[in-house]
Amino acid sequence: MLYSDKVLEHFASPHNVGEIENADGVGEVGNAKCGDIMKMYLKIDGGVITDAKFKTFGCGAAIATSSMATDMIKGSTIEDALKLSNQAVVEALDGLPASKIHCSVLAEQAVKSALADYYRKNGVDPTPIVGDIGECDACH
Ligand code: FES
Repeated sequence: MLYSDKVLEHFASPHNVGEIENADGVGEVGNAKCGDIMKMYLKIDGGVITDAKFKTFGCGAAIATSSMATDMIKGSTIEDALKLSNQAVVEALDGLPASKIHCSVLAEQAVKSALADYYRKNGVDPTPIVGDIGECDACH
């Protein structure tokens, strides 16, 4: 089987799909490899991510990884969310085929991009905190 049961579950019934009105941070990233686009919305209260939602024009693996990534960052601190790697998301999904690993990068970048937006909205330069989000040919 190409995909794990967990990937299929998250693809069939993704968690946290949608938008957050008056989100504290909104990120949009594109995957240079395939042209897919992901938008991430975060609600942040006292340094903790209280809600996360996403929308994507992306493939099934992008949907499954974003579903899992939003589950993982909900309730976590900004610091912990910034440490979330695409590998951790892939592991939580019991793996992805090698050709689909790039899709998981989209989820990690979308979280970082939304956090960078949060810092910018609060008058803080996100570059030293968030670091390099990565190339985004589709949205810049
Ligand atoms: Fe584009 Fe998966 S093929 S994100």
